[in-house]
Amino acid sequence: MRTGSPPRIDPARGLQVPEDSRQFLLAKISSEIRRKGRITYRELLEILLYEPTHGFYTRYLQIGDGPEFHFSTRPIELSPFYGRAFAKRIKELIGSTGLGSQNLNLVALGDGDGTLFGDVARELKKHREIERRLKKTSIELVPRFAAGQARRLEPLGVRVINDSAVNLDRHIDPGSGIFFAHEFLDQLPINRVLNTGNIILERYITLRGSRFVEVNGPLSSPELEEYFQITRPLRSGQSCAVIIDAMRLIKKLSAIIKQGIIIIIDYNVERGGLHDIAHSRFGRGVPLQPETLTNAIGKDITTDVDFEALKLIAGHFGFETIFEASDGDFLKAHLLSILHDRLGPPMKVLVLEKR
Ligand SMILES: C[S@@+](CC[C@H](N)C(=O)[O-])C[C@H]1O[C@@H](n2cnc3c(N)ncnc32)[C@H](O)[C@@H]1O
Repeated sequence: MRTGSPPRIDPARGLQVPEDSRQFLLAKISSEIRRKGRITYRELLEILLYEPTHGFYTRYLQIGDGPEFHFSTRPIELSPFYGRAFAKRIKELIGSTGLGSQNLNLVALGDGDGTLFGDVARELKKHREIERRLKKTSIELVPRFAAGQARRLEPLGVRVINDSAVNLDRHIDPGSGIFFAHEFLDQLPINRVLNTGNIILERYITLRGSRFVEVNGPLSSPELEEYFQITRPLRSGQSCAVIIDAMRLIKKLSAIIKQGIIIIIDYNVERGGLHDIAHSRFGRGVPLQPETLTNAIGKDITTDVDFEALKLIAGHFGFETIFEASDGDFLKAHLLSILHDRLGPPMKVLVLEKR
């Protein structure tokens, strides 16, 4: 289970990435840098994790419980109890937010092997008055995982879409709904931004000879400026990691959701402050930077989620934060105390509502 912080892959577990993939990825990073002069951290992460043939997520990552897997997650480790408790909270939220009589989209974003949605769907089937009004969809980027989800979830009436969740507006009709993202946002590639002497710059990776080095340059996208307008400007001397896809996602969800909720569960145990997250990391908390880049190949690289920024973004796009606490608190009433003790150090839950 990914408990505590830093919650990382055990290098002794799971399939190791073979040398030809390592070389392929390094060559691809180098050729992208030569082509463009430099690449953003976001572009680097997209290659390391999601390159279509050799990316760690695309090809190698095995999520599950046991030594042959790279890591497990709480919904998997505590299946079916975690998912059942999660479903009971969804049912309560449907009741308390006045979604009770409407047709609803129920959408999972990045559901891995589909265990969570499977357990949620089975539990909700017990409530026919809710179940018959649900249109269930799972959106998953990685084709291998989407195929596994389809096998597991389609018999439960869940439509599985193989696409980035950031494209969900292509697949989900506007209406009322519940959207959940469990250990998903921390997986999205980041940009790294800094304020040096009141000049806002972005960090890039480039090559000096055969050595990877970091250089600063102007922001790579106007959306990064929008991000800091919606959240708050960086202070002089401060640097941070920006999950721009989280902003895109909330913006799109705001356009899709007439009335509904988003449940976000993710890691950010110790860094609570706005713009306080500086790195992606891998292994036992090793920051991703030029000196560590080659070791990051074949590792699960994640970033703590800036929940303070998320709340400001959500507020900007018309959502109200109606719950903010740990996963233990969120599921407390519905999880046996013996399982509660097995949750480990807390993850954070944010429930956002649009009326
Ligand atoms: C750490 S796993 C979490 C799986 C599951 N939610 C759980 O908690 O057991 C993250 C999942 O997000 C998926 N993912 C990453 N980027 C994505 C994107 N842009 N759109 C949809 N899924 C994505 C990954 O392939 C993986 O299935």
